[in-house]
Amino acid sequence: MFLHLRDRTGLVQLAFNPDWTPGPVVEQLGDLNPEDVIAVGGRVEMRPADAVNPDMETGRVEVRVEAMERVSEAAPLPILVAIPPDEELPSEELRLRHRVLDLRRPEMQRNFRIRHLAANSARRALADDGFLEIETPFLTRRTPEGARDYLVPSRIHPGEFYALPQSPLLYKQLLMVAGFDRYFQIARCLRDEDLRADRQPEFTQIDVEMAFVDEDDVFAAAERMLARVLSEAVGIDLGGPVPRMTHADALEHYGTDKPDLRIPWRLEDFTDALSGLGFGIIDGVRDAGGRVRGFRVPGGAEISRSRLDSASATAQANGAKGALWLKRSETGWSGPPARFLEGEPGDRLAAAHGIEPGDLALMVAGPDSETSPSLDALRRSIAADEGAVEEGLRWTWITDFPLFEADPDTGMAVASHHPFTMPDVTEPERLLSDPFSVGSRAYDLVLNGTELCSGSIRCHRPDLQRAILKVLGMGEDEIESRFGFLLESFRYGVPPHGGFAMGFDRLVAMLVGTTSIREVIAFPKTTAARGLLEGAPSPLAADELIELGLSLR
Ligand code: AMO
Repeated sequence: MFLHLRDRTGLVQLAFNPDWTPGPVVEQLGDLNPEDVIAVGGRVEMRPADAVNPDMETGRVEVRVEAMERVSEAAPLPILVAIPPDEELPSEELRLRHRVLDLRRPEMQRNFRIRHLAANSARRALADDGFLEIETPFLTRRTPEGARDYLVPSRIHPGEFYALPQSPLLYKQLLMVAGFDRYFQIARCLRDEDLRADRQPEFTQIDVEMAFVDEDDVFAAAERMLARVLSEAVGIDLGGPVPRMTHADALEHYGTDKPDLRIPWRLEDFTDALSGLGFGIIDGVRDAGGRVRGFRVPGGAEISRSRLDSASATAQANGAKGALWLKRSETGWSGPPARFLEGEPGDRLAAAHGIEPGDLALMVAGPDSETSPSLDALRRSIAADEGAVEEGLRWTWITDFPLFEADPDTGMAVASHHPFTMPDVTEPERLLSDPFSVGSRAYDLVLNGTELCSGSIRCHRPDLQRAILKVLGMGEDEIESRFGFLLESFRYGVPPHGGFAMGFDRLVAMLVGTTSIREVIAFPKTTAARGLLEGAPSPLAADELIELGLSLR
C-alpha cells in the first residue's frame, strides 16, 4: 500500500509492505483519514525503475515505512486540501472560514514563501543601503491619509481615543528631524475604508524616508530595493531605470494617473479634425471648452455594434454622455460622425491620426474631467477584449501631481496625496490665493495600471505647511492641536526630506501572479471587513463597555 505524506516542502510517497512494515502498522492504515498528522520511521530508498513517477518532484524515491504513529486525527474536512489544478476552488467565504486548511494548499504555501523572501530581500537591500529599521507607535493620534481611522478607546482616560496609524508618515518625518537620516520599516497600516481586491483594512508597507534628497535620490533608492526583491524572490530583472511621466502627461495620454502601459494605445485629441464640420454634438462640446478625445484601435473595425453600444454604457457609467465611434474601411467611414467626413475632412482625419482602413477610433466628447475617466475605462476594457494587453511588467513613476484636487461633491480643496507634500511654490500667499494652480513634489510608482508605491519630497517649511493646512479648511487651533507636535519639531532645525511607501501586499500579489491581495495575506478580512475564522469584529459585554467609559446608542 502507498500513501502520500505532505509537509511544507511537498509530497513524498510512503510504501507499506509486510516485507518491511510490522503487521500492526499495516492494520492501522485502514483507519487513517486525509489530513491526519502522522509520524513515520523508515528508510528512504530508490523506487524500482517501473515505479518511478516523473510527474512528482520526489518521484524517484519512497519511504519504506517501518514504524508509524498517528499523532493527531483529522475530522472530516469542510474543504479539500488537495484540489486538482483544473478544479474550481471552494467559495472564498469557505476558504476564509477554514483558512488553516486553505493555507495548507501548496499554492498558498508558495505565496507565503515568496512573501517571506521578498520581505527579507527588502530588509537586506535597505540595510545594505544604510537605512535603519525603526518601529513607530500603533497607539497614536489621527494621521491624515485620506481614510477613516480605527479608534481605540482609552480605559485610563475615559472619553479619549487613540487612533491606529494609517501610515507611519508623521513619525518618519519626526525621525528625520531627530537626525536618523535614513529610516525604513516594514510597517503595518490600518485604514477604515471601502475594501476591494487590492485594499485591506490592515496592510503592510515598506516605508522609507531619507534626509537631504531630491526625487532622483528617492527613486534610485526605491529602484535598488525593488531590483533586489524582484531578483531574489522570483528571479525577475527590473531592467534599467524606471521611466517617468508627469501627472499631466498621464492624464492627457491615458486619462488616468495609473496608466497600464502594457496597452499600446494612447489617447489623442480629435477636436480639430472633427469640429467645424457640422456635427452638432462635437461643435457644442468644443464651444463649451471641452474636447473630443479618444484612441485608435488598429484592426478594430471588426468590433461589433453591440460591443460599441456597451462601450457607450461604460463611458456613461464613468461620467460621460456616451462614446462616439468611427470605423474606416477601404470605401469610407461608418459611425455617427461619418456623414460629415466625406472627401477632404475624412482624409485629413485619417492622416492626422494615422487611421488606416480596418481601424476603429473610439472617442468621448466633453470636459476633460468627464472624458478622462471614461476613456481610461474604455481603453482598458477594449484592450482586454481584443487581447491587446502585452505581456510583461511596465513600471513608471508618475511625477508632478497637483498639490490639491477639488472634492467632487463640495468643490473644496483636498490633498491629492497628503498634506505634508512640498508645494512647487515658495510663497504661502500663492498657496492661499490660488491653491488649485499649485503643483507638488509628489510621485507614485505604477505597475501595469496599479499604484504600487507613493511618496513625496516633504514640506519642511512651517509657514508653507500651515498654509497647506489652512487651504484644507483647518483653523489655527485645529492645526495646533492636531499637528502642533510636528510643526514644533520643525522649529529646532529640520533637514529637507522625502520618501515613499511601497504597498507590500500589492507587490507580493504581483510577484506570485494574483490580483487579489487576500491571496498573499495569511488571515485577511472579507470585503465586508470581517475576520471569518476568528469572528471579528465582535460585540462587547456591558461591563466591558462600562470599563471603557462607553455606552452604545
Ligand atoms: P499611500 O496612502 O499612497 O501613501 O499608501 C502607499 C501604498 O500602500 C498601498 N496601500 C494599500 N494596500 C493595501 N490595502 C490598502 N488599504 C492600501 N492603502 C494603500 C498602496 C499605496 O501605493 N504615507 C504615504 C507614503 C509616503 O508619502 O511616504 C502613504 O501611506 O500600494
